[in-house]
Amino acid sequence: MHQDESVARIQDFKGAYPKQLLLLCLTEMWERFCFYGMRGILTIFMVEKLLIGEKTANLQYGAIQAFIYAFAFIGGLFADKILGFRKSLFFGGILMVLGNFIIAFSPDTLFYIGICFTIVGTGFFKPNISSMVGTLYKEGDVRQDAGFALFYTAINVGAFLGGVIMVYLAHNVSWASAFFAAGVVMVIGLITFIYTQRTMGTIGLSPQHPSVSPQKKTIYEVLVYIGSLLAIPLILLLVSNTEYTDYFMYTIGPVTLLYFFYEWSKYSWPEKKKLLAALIFILFSIVFWAFFEQSGGSLSIFALHNLHDQLLGMTIDPNMVNNSSNTIFVIIFSFLVGLVWVWMAKRKIEPNTIIKFGLGFLFLAASFYILFFTRTFADASGKTSLNVFTFAYLVMTFGELCLSIIGGGYGEPERKCQFKRKVDFLYGWL
Ligand code: ALA
Repeated sequence: MHQDESVARIQDFKGAYPKQLLLLCLTEMWERFCFYGMRGILTIFMVEKLLIGEKTANLQYGAIQAFIYAFAFIGGLFADKILGFRKSLFFGGILMVLGNFIIAFSPDTLFYIGICFTIVGTGFFKPNISSMVGTLYKEGDVRQDAGFALFYTAINVGAFLGGVIMVYLAHNVSWASAFFAAGVVMVIGLITFIYTQRTMGTIGLSPQHPSVSPQKKTIYEVLVYIGSLLAIPLILLLVSNTEYTDYFMYTIGPVTLLYFFYEWSKYSWPEKKKLLAALIFILFSIVFWAFFEQSGGSLSIFALHNLHDQLLGMTIDPNMVNNSSNTIFVIIFSFLVGLVWVWMAKRKIEPNTIIKFGLGFLFLAASFYILFFTRTFADASGKTSLNVFTFAYLVMTFGELCLSIIGGGYGEPERKCQFKRKVDFLYGWL
């Protein structure tokens, strides 16, 4: 079948959602189970099981997250230029499965090596599945927002389940069982994806130029696989020595910027202005998510030592609450916030993208003030109210929703695709 024909058939779906979207949602749900479950137990595993000091554990968590984000850039780049979304996703998924099973085999001794597999795996998996969602819709298809809402919900359902189940297993069964569960769930995600890709026509196939011979294509692909695997010992060195991580980040940051300006130089001036607008949003997003990701680091240590286990009269592990309250609030309130924007848009009073971005930061700041405020409820043992802590997450989630829901669309693919709308808006200002 001609390339465009198979894509056009997918995009001409009847009903509210393309069936490929439901399958991608399931795949992503399992992957987010694995990722957010891992994120929720990483630091407490280092503190409770490996007996690493809190400060070092927090720094190492930061390093792991930094590498995951850095590899998302590298994984996305290789997918765009050489592998295509599908092979990238599959390769990333396999590495994530291996990473979890390696840790489950011997958490005390193999933790760091397993985590490095997961870092590279997530880098290849995550950016590419979100990109695939966008390809299911024609430009301007009004059903896209509903599709993104569903994908955003799937992300948060997966993150919720992982956040709760992995902490439960880690604290009540064994650390190994938690990592093993993440591996099993990721296998389910991969099987779902194998089935999904059969229905995707030509979407996500090799992006290499048709004039490149099949042998050459294979050589390039194998080189990407080998290069990525060879990076694992290097990441291992960098993650376990956090001072080296700093050097790596000081390098990858400027290199990414240089690459950006290299690509930038190829465009016309109006396009250059758009890219600059994009850069401004990216830089602000970095700040937002750096605070948000404290969930898996400093806040999970806080939950471990400084919170009572009573939430609205129920006894619950504070780390479970730390891991899952954001996702629950997203599931409940994303729909509502979307409706509010639509309602305001009809009355021509919807705040513009920049105001929403600013609101996101105000909510984020307020949530950290509330976290700070929990100290006024602390008892002599240093433990404070889980209710107030959870309320801080509610406020923080509204910050996330202000960033993620622009003009009725939702979530991460929305963040990506609507990025164009935001950029267009800022462009108008420049
Ligand atoms: N709320 C987080 C997200 O959607 C889990 O990325």
